[in-house]
Amino acid sequence: MSEQTNTELEQQASAHRASAHRASAQVVAVMGDIITIKSLGSKPLTKNEVVYVMPSRRANEQVEEQLMAEVLRVRGDIADIQVYEDTRGVAVGDAIIQTGHLLSLELGPGILSMIYDGLQNPLERLASLHGKFLQRGVQLDALDRSQTWAFTAVAKTGDKLHAGETFGTVPEGRFTHRIMIPFNTEGEVEVIWIQEGSFNVDTVVAKVRNQRGEEVDLTMVQKWPVRHSISETLTKKGKTERQYPDTPLVTTQRIVDTFFPIARGGTGCIPGPFGSGKTVLQHSFSRYCDADIVIVTACGERAGEVVETIEEFPHLQDPTTGGSLIDRTVIICNTSSMPVAAREASIYTGLTLGEYYRQMGYNVLALADSTSRWAQAMRETSNRLEEIPGEEGFPAYMDSAIKGVYERCGVIRNEEGDEGSLTMVGSVSPAGGNFEEPVTQATLSTVKTFLGLSYERAYKRFYPAIDPLISWSRYLDQLSDWYGNNLSADWVENVKEMQALLVKGDSINQMMQVTGEEGITLEDYVTFQKSLFLDMVYLQQDAFDDVDSSCPLTRQKACFELAVSLIRQQYTFKDKEIARDYFVKLTGLFKNLNYSHDGSPEYNSYLQKIEELRNQYIGTAAAA
Ligand SMILES: Nc1ncnc2c1ncn2[C@@H]1O[C@H](COP(=O)(O)OP(=O)(O)OP(=O)(O)O)[C@@H](O)[C@H]1O
Ligand SMILES: [Mg+2]
Repeated sequence: MSEQTNTELEQQASAHRASAHRASAQVVAVMGDIITIKSLGSKPLTKNEVVYVMPSRRANEQVEEQLMAEVLRVRGDIADIQVYEDTRGVAVGDAIIQTGHLLSLELGPGILSMIYDGLQNPLERLASLHGKFLQRGVQLDALDRSQTWAFTAVAKTGDKLHAGETFGTVPEGRFTHRIMIPFNTEGEVEVIWIQEGSFNVDTVVAKVRNQRGEEVDLTMVQKWPVRHSISETLTKKGKTERQYPDTPLVTTQRIVDTFFPIARGGTGCIPGPFGSGKTVLQHSFSRYCDADIVIVTACGERAGEVVETIEEFPHLQDPTTGGSLIDRTVIICNTSSMPVAAREASIYTGLTLGEYYRQMGYNVLALADSTSRWAQAMRETSNRLEEIPGEEGFPAYMDSAIKGVYERCGVIRNEEGDEGSLTMVGSVSPAGGNFEEPVTQATLSTVKTFLGLSYERAYKRFYPAIDPLISWSRYLDQLSDWYGNNLSADWVENVKEMQALLVKGDSINQMMQVTGEEGITLEDYVTFQKSLFLDMVYLQQDAFDDVDSSCPLTRQKACFELAVSLIRQQYTFKDKEIARDYFVKLTGLFKNLNYSHDGSPEYNSYLQKIEELRNQYIGTAAAA
């Protein structure tokens, strides 16, 4: 262990020893990670306050441990707290230190490209200091204190500012990170001193006089409670306004962008049975979407998957800028081996970081995989508290908790008049793929895009396994002006015509299951072949092919228009066999087109072959 880390640990330990004397409550009962505490009378206990448990029995007497916990329920001078760590050895009588603060994050430059746990502990630094097996009771600064940032003042002495207004900026990678007046500031403050230069986040860069005439030091970092919405606070206090979402978030997944779009600032969910491709789809979103910043919250996913993401991202290119993908990404990761309680907090951590960057005017996509594991954490806690269970043991407030999460999304115009958005897409993993269960149902009644994955499609390897017959998006109509102005006047109309084709194709297919091919007319058979063709070449997309994995919107337009024209084409097939023959060949050529770089010689040659094939089968030639 390096000298620096030794000092750091010593400092931590001595701070803890000092704080043990500040105990204001003590443990009266322990039940797993739920502990009942009793106030010693000096400080009132408040709901959601962060407290520390100081176990007196420890494996290593030399190291003081402080276990972070949050107050869940207060009854007079008794409270139930939930500990975010392993509670082994915690005993009745152990000291509790109250912080007086709600569970909060550090907001400031240096968040991007970080990998945090649900409580904003930087995992890489934790691992380098304490090894891969996380030691309990260790908390680290979320933002690196050794890093300096070039601070440019935007405000000047005498300026009157209020919460959320920018007083300076620093470059954070390729982003301009706005340093804003703390969001909890009341009324106007006057800048009385401001400096410029390279500083770490704790350096005082400005001084302001508040409403009460007090001098307040401002650094580049502020704390914010995770369970409160930044934008909602600023909407009430300042000039931040909610806007109507009017632009799609382009994911480059054809079935999503064309058929079931998600608006910037909108909400979507991906329910699907185990192994149906939820994580792969979310990965595609995180890589290729046109958001400025992506926050990936992995709640209780398998550790292996998370490690894969972490190792992969620094080597991947950001498709829009060519930089490393990790530069625009924050990963919040709670593997299934981490304590349940931290998992519950992690969704709020992700959203709060998303809101912070949205407030600077960026478009942020927050992904959560999977929200079912988050809801299960809520259920476990509720059960331990012996609350009255609702459906399938989930607490009655789960519905409003889910709504509360997605409600933090939206488009805002910030204090400076710039627009930013926070979009959220959560996956849901219902047991047995049963969408009737409470978490899926509560989510479906909240979000505006439903990308339902089906076992049947995954089994057939029709990826992404989004089932076009059950999925829906309210944004297709809501964004129709955008499509009209940016793609084509009849875009939405054409998409709906193709959706109708898929429905018709499915009902013909079902009929065919009963009667066989002979039982249906040639016309119906051709309709079925057309819908199958659309499915094969447009809805399906290979996440593991260099080219096909991402289909930008301009390419989607060309691809969709070609597919539609081939589908609308009047053909005169002599019999079903000829019809099938044609669509099989057409599908093969079209798929090769999808695999070719846009505008490359191969691409053009496949285009030409498609036209040649079409010409062979129209008019008299096909009838022969
Ligand atoms: N778009 C795709 N293209 C090709 N293969 C895919 C695609 N999506 C999923 N798969 C295949 O399905 C497998 C399972 O996908 P994934 O891990 O995303 O499922 P999941 O729904 O997240 O599962 P779980 O419920 O266990 O978390 C992948 O390892 C991959 O082989
Ligand atoms: Mg998964």
